Amino acid sequence: MASIRMRNTGERISGTRNVSDFLTAQGVLYEHWQTQKLPISLQGKCNLSDEEKNQILSVYDEEIQSLGSRNGYVKWDVIALSESTPNLAELLKKFEQVHIHTEDEVRAITAGHGIFVIKGKDDTGYFDVELEAGDVISVPVDTPHFFTLMEDRQVVAVRLFIDPTGWVAHPIEDPAFAK
Ligand SMILES: [Fe+2]
Repeated sequence: MASIRMRNTGERISGTRNVSDFLTAQGVLYEHWQTQKLPISLQGKCNLSDEEKNQILSVYDEEIQSLGSRNGYVKWDVIALSESTPNLAELLKKFEQVHIHTEDEVRAITAGHGIFVIKGKDDTGYFDVELEAGDVISVPVDTPHFFTLMEDRQVVAVRLFIDPTGWVAHPIEDPAFAK
């Protein structure tokens, strides 16, 4: 279950209903996939072979097709980050810059944890969405955000695209963002 931290006030929002209501009001899609569908050997595992990545896609095929047909996503893959990822620290540094995309950024977390830092509407300011396995999120097109890892420094996520070339990051300088 995801949890929210408001960067301006430190306020936390937790509980399925509260998190879901907050994100819906922000225009952020939030859903849940059953983590028990994954074979035990893949639950929590973040260092994956190509075969294991394909296995994850086939386990969640129904969920992927459903999300894709509702929102126009036609391509998908699996990204896995862990201490065994070459240059993880460098990669994370690159990730941790506020940017936008010309299409939604969709991630279904299947193992580990991640945080989307997202700019809220109006005077909401930036907020962190802390995600765990089973959490599915879509950051809307043109919404300033970035993604980073949590203390366990590992994650596996299914990514869905309308067109992978639309997912190029366009960095922005936002004076409203304070680390
Ligand atoms: Fe992004």
